[in-house]
Amino acid sequence: MDIRVLTSADIPHVQSTNITNLPENYFLKYYLYHALSWPQLSWVAVDVSRPKKTPYDPPKIVGYVLAKMEEEPVNGIQHGHITSLSVMRTHRRLGLADKLMRQSQRAMVEVYGAQYVSLHVRMSNIAALRLYRDTLGFAVEKVEAKYYADGEDAYSMKMDLKFLR
Ligand code: ACO
Repeated sequence: MDIRVLTSADIPHVQSTNITNLPENYFLKYYLYHALSWPQLSWVAVDVSRPKKTPYDPPKIVGYVLAKMEEEPVNGIQHGHITSLSVMRTHRRLGLADKLMRQSQRAMVEVYGAQYVSLHVRMSNIAALRLYRDTLGFAVEKVEAKYYADGEDAYSMKMDLKFLR
């Protein structure tokens, strides 16, 4: 498995991974906006065990984290934000999400001086909550009522990144 920074060429494959795994989907230009604005923050997990059939065989993206910096933080504090994270069912519980998140968080601190990282997660998403709270160390900041298009509430979560500085 290769964990590396997302490139523009990966975007259609990341978009298809996102559509497979999550109901929150984005236009290609939103991925491009992330990749061009904060090129160090979004990462992919690529299954390199499968031999290439042709030189143009696309990479097999099995996971990604799409992340950004908050452009105009209301509190004036530089911080990162996880827009989306997912791993294909076939490749879950291998530590890929953990690795993708840690790579992104490190770059937020080293490249952009982020003080903390934030994200939203569905209250019913037990797997992601365990990952964020128990494995990575995020804490719930507040509940955002009806945050999602289907009316589900979100936990707004946050993690201080000073341990990386
Ligand atoms: N049940 C309970 N705990 C879990 C689960 C699960 N199904 N999956 C992960 N965890 C916790 C465990 O503590 C795990 O450590 P362990 O395996 O040593 O017990 C830890 O998280 C790390 O797990 P990883 O292997 O790194 O996680 P994985 O690569 O499987 O990806 C993810 C987790 C991203 C939540 C995956 O299940 C997924 O893609 N789900 C669908 C999409 C999704 O919900 N994405 C997050 C939406 S929120 C957002 O995008 C900001």
